[in-house]
Amino acid sequence: MTPTRPTGTQDLLPDSGRAPLNLRAQAFEHIRSVARHVLTHAGAARIETPMFEPTDLVQRGVGDGSDIVRKEMFSVSHAGSHGDAVLRPEGTAGVMRAYLQNGLSQRPSPVRLWTDGPMFRAERPQKGRLRQFHQVDYEVIGSAEPALDAEAVALMWDVITALGLTGARIRLGSVGAPRDREDYSAYLRDMLTPHAARLSPDSQARLERSPMRILDSKDSGDQALLTELAPRPLLERLGPDARAHFDQVCSLLRAWDMPFDIDPGIVRGLDYYTQTAWEVHHGGVGAKSALGGGGRYDGLAAALGGPPTPAVGWALGIERVLIAMDTEDLDVPLTGGPLLYVAALGPEHVALAGRAARLGRAVGACELAARPIKPSAALGHALRRGARVIGLVGDNEAERAEITLKELASGRQITIPITDLPGALEALA
Ligand code: HAM
Repeated sequence: MTPTRPTGTQDLLPDSGRAPLNLRAQAFEHIRSVARHVLTHAGAARIETPMFEPTDLVQRGVGDGSDIVRKEMFSVSHAGSHGDAVLRPEGTAGVMRAYLQNGLSQRPSPVRLWTDGPMFRAERPQKGRLRQFHQVDYEVIGSAEPALDAEAVALMWDVITALGLTGARIRLGSVGAPRDREDYSAYLRDMLTPHAARLSPDSQARLERSPMRILDSKDSGDQALLTELAPRPLLERLGPDARAHFDQVCSLLRAWDMPFDIDPGIVRGLDYYTQTAWEVHHGGVGAKSALGGGGRYDGLAAALGGPPTPAVGWALGIERVLIAMDTEDLDVPLTGGPLLYVAALGPEHVALAGRAARLGRAVGACELAARPIKPSAALGHALRRGARVIGLVGDNEAERAEITLKELASGRQITIPITDLPGALEALA
């Protein structure tokens, strides 16, 4: 029987240009390189953190009340231990841990960081919802300035537009200061408790500890009750500091011509957010699915045991971005075939052909034929790979340490000393 991959995972295959973008390894590479360009030009430095973190860190970071911690963690066990670590469901808690543990607070503030990689959530798989998915992640740590929130939103938008997407929309809101949220939770609890019997079991369980999550319930009965009771959104009940912060973020985004809609009822799936929160949506991925999301998380460092450290950041889901790009008929650059395909015409010439390939790699991709072949077979292989030049080493060439090069498009052929190969390829590249 053919072996199969785990549910909710994908194989990313070498590019043929025909498969959907979200299954092409090259397309992932393209997103990373566009993100790297945008983010490093904004002063972000690369960081990499482990793919598993202590369970306790993720619980304290992402939040005990979140679906992720309650239902979606993959625990990692090994001989002699069980469940003391989980595969990271997101990047922010790990990046903040690394910032605290490695003294990055000593660096000039704010510290702008970016990373990307696989994240793991044991969700029910569907289109754009996987158990192993990939994020590009941007985090700015060490400052509470609203300009950094606005800049973070703008950078996320820059990545999206640099990829050519035109159908995405930013939804921006504020989840307020912790105090605002406590007041708002009490307001919701008072409003919903008399109707608790009409809530879904999930929402009933949330009524006491996280009533705000009920607003995001996918249950139609819950939604009907909310429509009926029409609670005022949190954005309309912010305290003066959170209100001023939010207004400042909005006015900067307007000054930078960023298109965005205000979402007064924004609820993010992670507990660490304070103040600004946003998501970017795209019709091609489905109404409930965001391409990415982010926000300010001024309380995370302290929740992890560090000194209070303000921060803001976002993550884009690479698979969802690629699904959106496919619906807009966008493509990514194909990596062409090699510059040079080199073949030995006899077993005694493999060493020289291999030397030629090694020299040529200083200039571009050079692929060496797996075994000695005839010139006609070498030509067939080179054409199938989309090579630009074929290089042959036979008896005549070997005698003088030469190689014969043939440019496939023009048919032009030259024989040159092997040592001249980089120069000759340079002229073509
Ligand atoms: P998040 O909203 O949970 O935020 O995830 C960000 C993005 O990751 C989502 O918008 C989506 O594109 C993608 N994503 C999430 N779950 C899945 C899944 N099961 N399958 C496919 N894609 C998925 C965070 O993770 C925060 N750490 C973002 C952040 C960074 N906030 C501050 N800094």
